[in-house]
Amino acid sequence: MSRGVLQAVGLVRRYGGLTAVDHVDLVAPPGMITGLIGPNGAGKSTLFSLLTGVEQPDEGKVMLGTTDISKMRPDIRSRRGLVQTFQVPSLFPTLTVADNLLVGAENRRRDYAGGLLGLSAPGRGRTSRLAEGVLEKLGLAPKGPVTQVVEEVLESLGLSDVRDTIAGTLPTGALRLVEFARALCARPDILLLDEPASGLDAEETAKLSELLRRTAAEGVGILIVDHDVDLVFSVVDQVYAMVGGRVVASGDPQEVRGDPTVRSVYLAQAPLAAAASQPGEA
Ligand SMILES: Nc1ncnc2c1ncn2[C@@H]1O[C@H](COP(=O)(O)OP(=O)(O)OP(=O)(O)O)[C@@H](O)[C@H]1O
Ligand SMILES: [Mg+2]
Repeated sequence: MSRGVLQAVGLVRRYGGLTAVDHVDLVAPPGMITGLIGPNGAGKSTLFSLLTGVEQPDEGKVMLGTTDISKMRPDIRSRRGLVQTFQVPSLFPTLTVADNLLVGAENRRRDYAGGLLGLSAPGRGRTSRLAEGVLEKLGLAPKGPVTQVVEEVLESLGLSDVRDTIAGTLPTGALRLVEFARALCARPDILLLDEPASGLDAEETAKLSELLRRTAAEGVGILIVDHDVDLVFSVVDQVYAMVGGRVVASGDPQEVRGDPTVRSVYLAQAPLAAAASQPGEA
């Protein structure tokens, strides 16, 4: 399957009189890390929800490669390679790390089954269970590739030691890593990361940063929202800054960081940790 560009085209989402996302155009290409920044209430999470299909736009569309995915359900988008991690890790707490990863891998297994039977891409969502059943009866179910992906991801993220640990017993840093690992097991073309560094210490954040670069180098497109502006600016290839539902600046991270609107509206209030450590500043 070709690795497609994720594109927001003129997206609008209104809540009553409030326009949370206001004619947003955004392109997240394969192999690149795209950042999305903005102050509280800028519309970042709403835009994420429109891209993943959790919310429907009032205007505009979402494209994945050459396909308009605007009307597709979130699970169908995910099977097509648009994979998300959540601000609150959404792992199954009573399952082992390896079993959590298997759940992630299962998503793409269905698509793989459809591909083996030569089903056209639009038909795969509906017929994949059938296809899977047929393949299983024929003894052709691709179990090998699924477990192989899990083992590869465990190994490459240094998680082999905790493969049989119950996920719910892990500390936050490890949980976030497992959440990321599970997303990788779905073999994403585009990975949407909502606050992946939240709750991580400096060392874990550095590790995440390196993982993001490695993942992008393998051709995966990444879209990241995070309040850690230093992480975002240090790791992204391009960045979009939103204020009041609109994109006010986009492009090269250094240029966006220097943009007067971004500086006055966002960066002035972003380094909260630094400000909090200065006596006398509210
Ligand atoms: N379901 C909803 N109903 C009504 N208003 C909403 C809803 N979801 C979001 N909003 C409003 O839309 C605007 C954008 O919210 P959103 O959560 O997208 O911002 P954000 O950039 O993610 O902010 P934060 O950095 O605080 O996470 C805000 O004014 C918010 O109050
Ligand atoms: Mg948000």
